[in-house]
Amino acid sequence: MKVFIVGNGGREHAMAWKIKQNPKIEKIFSTPFNTGINEIGECAKIDVLNFENLTKFAKEKEIDLAIVSTDNPLVEGLVDVFENHNIRVFGPNKKAAMIEGSKIFSKELMKKYKIPTAKYEIFDKKIKAMEYVKKKNEYPIVIKADGLAYGKGVIIAHNFEEANTAVEKIMKEKIFGKSGDKIIIEDFLFGEEFSVLAFTDGKTIKLMPIAKDYKKIFDDNKGPNTGGMGSISPGETQDKILIEEYMEKIFIPTIRAMEKEGRKYKGVIYFGLILTDDGVKVIEYNCRFGDPETQVILPKLKTDLIEIFDSIIDEKLNEINIEWKNLSTVCVILASKGYPEKYEIGHEIYGLKNLEKENILIFHSGTKTEKEKILTNGGRVVGIVGCEKTIAESRKKTYNNIKNISFENMYFRKDIGK
Ligand code: AMP
Ligand code: GLY
Repeated sequence: MKVFIVGNGGREHAMAWKIKQNPKIEKIFSTPFNTGINEIGECAKIDVLNFENLTKFAKEKEIDLAIVSTDNPLVEGLVDVFENHNIRVFGPNKKAAMIEGSKIFSKELMKKYKIPTAKYEIFDKKIKAMEYVKKKNEYPIVIKADGLAYGKGVIIAHNFEEANTAVEKIMKEKIFGKSGDKIIIEDFLFGEEFSVLAFTDGKTIKLMPIAKDYKKIFDDNKGPNTGGMGSISPGETQDKILIEEYMEKIFIPTIRAMEKEGRKYKGVIYFGLILTDDGVKVIEYNCRFGDPETQVILPKLKTDLIEIFDSIIDEKLNEINIEWKNLSTVCVILASKGYPEKYEIGHEIYGLKNLEKENILIFHSGTKTEKEKILTNGGRVVGIVGCEKTIAESRKKTYNNIKNISFENMYFRKDIGK
């Protein structure tokens, strides 16, 4: 079997690592480039939005299964394009991916189907938006661009000035392009955030173990948001309390709502949740695996991932049993100093081969190769994942192994899993 993964982050490396364990896999292709995937497969250099060339590649290589795992091509409809060319593909189609592609769509969906979320208003004019902020006069207040914005489209404003600047940047300066034609202004929610990812074929939904992403750049959740500086996924005992209540209130209603709207959802769905004094609420949906949540979730999966993907494509998810290992995993991202703003790339990474042999994994995010050398090539460089029974043990394992790795300007959080 030949598989083609469209996407090249740490998430995709974790998927490739898991998929490779299936003996039926003859070859894994991926695009554009990931050092880790290239070591176990082959990377193309095709842009993830060049649908014509992606289709040509999939045909030429006689791909048996394509996996679209990154937000932009999902929202732009690559799944539909592959389907129209009779390429077997895993991922939600364009209509379903709207749940991440438009925050306005997802908020209206939640309102209509009574799925708990923060109160909000929608604006397409700056002046109206600012009148609302002024009248409401409650801070912090959350300002969100409607469309995709490389994970940066949410601004938390602590006073009128900050709100005004945010709205100006999004709606007038168009820092996120058309994604900022409309905005949402919503109430700030206080509470602990966590993520629940699930597999669904549009009818059945099967949850993965819960995870938590550390979005802020500095320890103690300080500083600006990043793509994620680390993640944890605790062992199964802690998970159970959540499941039934949230199943009834959030997970099943979302899948049913999408079906009713004529947007049957098949793929991985990501629920970004927050536990407030007023119960659990949805902060956001993503139409794909999270990064770096995937890096802590997939090491716990016993069942073959391709078997799960196949059952979703064929709408037979109810027929399979998905099994998980009772591990508590901790992922720490090694980043380039300066990220999420300006940072240098091109520094040699030392010690990647010096990790312990057991219960520790490494997933590449932003690296490249030059002859025998591996160099930094992004803000988030690699993720190191400890896989032990408890969070404390995994945390120790991860940080101990990080001591073996070095590159110029290496930066990482010291409090992941603490
Ligand atoms: P999103 O891109 O929707 O995940 O938002 C990024 C981050 O902004 C979330 O992970 C939260 O930390 C924060 N955020 C978004 N909406 C709210 C809200 N209504 N209240 C508090 N924090 C929020
Ligand atoms: N970890 C959050 C995301 O993947 O969007």
